[in-house]
Order: sequence, then C-alpha cells, then structure tokens
Amino acid sequence: YFLGIDVSTTATKALLIDSAGKVIAVHSTTYGFETPHPLWSEQDPALWWNGTQRSIRAVLDASKIDPSQIFGVGLTGQMHGLVLLDAAKNVLRPAILWNDQRTQAQCDKIHQRIGRERFIQITGNVALTGFTAPKILWVKENEPEIYARAAHVLLPKDYVRYKLTGEFAMDVADGAGTVLMDLQRRDWSTEVLSALDIPRDWVPPLYEGPQITGRLTPAAAEATGLLTGTPVMAGGGDQAAGAVGMGVVKPGVVGLTVGTSGVVFATTPAALVEPGGRLHAFCHAVPGMWHFMGVMLSAAGSLQWYRDTLAPGVGFDELVKEAESIPAGSEGLQFLPYLSGERTPHPDPFARGAFIGLTVRHGRGHLTRAVLEGVAYGLKDSFTLIQNAGLGEITQVRASGGGTKSRLWRQILASVLEAELVTVNTTEGAAYGAALLAGVGAGNWKDVDAACRAAIVITGKENPDGAQVDSYRKGYEIYRDLYPTLKSTFR
Ligand code: XUL
Repeated sequence: YFLGIDVSTTATKALLIDSAGKVIAVHSTTYGFETPHPLWSEQDPALWWNGTQRSIRAVLDASKIDPSQIFGVGLTGQMHGLVLLDAAKNVLRPAILWNDQRTQAQCDKIHQRIGRERFIQITGNVALTGFTAPKILWVKENEPEIYARAAHVLLPKDYVRYKLTGEFAMDVADGAGTVLMDLQRRDWSTEVLSALDIPRDWVPPLYEGPQITGRLTPAAAEATGLLTGTPVMAGGGDQAAGAVGMGVVKPGVVGLTVGTSGVVFATTPAALVEPGGRLHAFCHAVPGMWHFMGVMLSAAGSLQWYRDTLAPGVGFDELVKEAESIPAGSEGLQFLPYLSGERTPHPDPFARGAFIGLTVRHGRGHLTRAVLEGVAYGLKDSFTLIQNAGLGEITQVRASGGGTKSRLWRQILASVLEAELVTVNTTEGAAYGAALLAGVGAGNWKDVDAACRAAIVITGKENPDGAQVDSYRKGYEIYRDLYPTLKSTFR
C-alpha cells in the first residue's frame, strides 16, 4: 500500500492505494485561510500538520490495514506558499499563500535587478505575485525583524515533510514554482539567489518526484499511527502531481482541468520556455520531464457565478440543457471569462468579464452557451501558446474537474480545441498522483509512465464535431480581439 498526502489550501487529504493503484480509503481534514488585509492570503502551518495527522489516522482506521504494509508516503500540496523557519526550526510567521497578491512591487524589483529576459531565461517564468521569490523580498522589506531571524525557506507540503521525517527537502516540480531555480539544470540558481541576497543555505536539497527524501521519525510515527522508518518520497506540487494522477506524463498528452479555475498542463521533453513568459514553465514530477502550464482564473467559476446570479435555484443540468439546441457560436453572442482578472494569456488583475453582442434574439440558452464557449476560447489561448512555444502536435487532451461532467461542455471543448478529449477513471487528483509517485519510489512500478499505464484507464471520449469546428474558428477569431479592444475600459 502507498499513501498520498495533499496539503491544499482548503484541506489536507490522505489517500491510500493498493499496489494495483486502487483507492482503498480517503480522508480530508478541512480548514480555512486568513485575509488580514486586502490582497493578503495567509495560513498557519500548524493546520497542515494537524490535518495530516488526523487524515492519516482516519484512513488507517477506515481501511484496517496494518501500517507495516505501507511502503511509502508521497507528498503534494498547494504550490508557491512561503514558509519561513528560524535556526531552531520554529515557524516565524503565517505562510504567505499562492493566492496572495501583495508583492507587485517586489516582482518589478526582481525584473529590474536581474533583467526580465534573463530572469525568464533562467527560471522559465516572469516573477508573478503568487510565486515564492517576491514573497521573500516582501518579508525582507516589510518585516525586517522576522527576516533577520530567518534560516530556512520551505513550501507548504515540505513543512509537513519536515514534521514527518525531521528533514528539509523539496521536489523539483514545486521548487521551480519558487522561481529561484535554474529550470534547465533542475537545481537552485546561484545567480538568482545571489541577486536577491537569499543565502544558499536557506533553501533545502532538491529531489526528483519518486526519490526518497527521508523516513518517519518515532515522534511522527506516534503522531500519525504509521511505522517509524516508513519512507517519505519527494512527490510534487499539486499541478505536477495532479498531472501524474491523470496520466499526463508524456509530450503530446495535455491535461485540462475545468474547476473553479482552469488549467492547461502540457509535459515537455526539455526545459522549453515561452519567450514572453506568458506560460508557466516548471519541472515535472516525472524525472527528466518539464511542463508548460496556462492558468485561467475563472473557468467553471464563470458558470457558477452566472447560475448563481442570473438563474438562482436552477440546476446546472437544466441550465446547460437549454444551451444544447443553440447553434455553435451562440448566434454571435460572446462571453469574456475574466471575472477574477486573468493569468494566462493576459497576466492582468484588472481584466474584467463581459457579454458582447447581445440582441433581442438572444435568450437564456444563448447566454449559457456563450459562457461555455467563452471559457473554451480562453483555454484555447493557453493551447495556442503551448503549440507555438515548440511542443508540436497535441494528440490527446485528458479532462478533469467539475466542468467536464457536462457532456455539452466536453463536446464544445473538443471542437474548440480541435483535439480528442478523454476522461479517465482516476478522479482524486494530486493526492492520487503523490501516491503513485510513492509507489514508483518504493519499486512497485519501474517508472512513472508504467505506474500510470497500470492504474489509469480511459473512460470516455469526445471527438471534434466537424460541422461545428468552422463556427468556433470564426468565434475564436473575434474572441481574440475582445481583450485588446476592451482593455482601456477595465479600470
Ligand atoms: C499553481 C497554483 C495553484 C496552487 C493551488 O501555479 O498557483 O494551482 O498550486 O493549489
């Protein structure tokens, strides 16, 4: 058996699988995060460790398996969060999370000091407010007394790793999201660290996803019910581990998650970079692989807002049914999905949503269909960037997330993206990928690809509808003009 632990923003989940990859038990311990000031988002690391202990105990109780039969624990979690410890290994302040937006000034400073292009060349990314490096600078400038005591920088799941094993360690997938790494060398960048005056010994050793980083201490065994000495594998940030959990581990296979936010994830065989820095480029949790990622902030979140605001009380199935008989292209009606600002391809917190092209002919079915199509066009923007950045042909799209439960939305996505869209049997996301990585590290599977082939099967398939592809090509052309045209009105 193998355990995956996902330290997310809203819960810490433990998931137990057997050696065939079958899910045996799952438990989540939920919690919240704090917004003490506008733009801030923070969380107490004690919540993660408490959640880890409870969730592990709950899956052990539910499954009744003997802890001596657990041969590895894989870790995953929310990326980019800054955890600062002092020399005595105590937490210095609440963690600053991935969705915190306070660091625009520090991002600008990083680009000034290193040069925006050089920074993209080394780390694969532009400095964004969510990433870890600008948060370290923010603490230096705004909380000098805390910064003076800092001795260790960790990411959320690696704090849990420290509590489990007593070791400081990080995987390269999550590490790349600090934007302190040399993407190509899969190691810390001395140039970036020294330009930002961050001591090299603050950051921990880096590992590949399936590697063992340490073993359970007696205290952690006592706290969780696991056995002392159980190996803990590196794992990966939630996006990379989530991709492993869907079998998105080879170039040409793209992961598409349509949750509140939308993510397009593409494995790359080398450290490819989008020259404008419009895509995230990180290491994959698969050894020797990297990945591109485009993030849309309001994907199924757009449909949720639309339903709650304009059709409260109407079920999603009923609402989407009204859109089925509307022709592709919604008879000229367009929707811009930037309800929470945007990240890819327009990194603009001030981007806004809109319906464009309303006429008296349009009814609720049109509005609904326009929302589904607008989100699909926005995701196509990330696809197009990925294709143009050198990935080449996309042979298959693996879809997950609440939005892909709708057959109509899956059909629209397949036709807009002009790719075969499949669904898979594994729906537990990142925790499942972390458990597979633990299984690979323990030698149960020979590599990550073998684990995915053994455990993940395709359960459904949509092909592009030839009759609709043309309408969507025309619709997408208009969609692409909307953001630049409307930008001056977003303020
Ligand atoms: C990835 C990102 C989020 C967090 C949330 O770049 O910001 O997916 O990892 O869990």
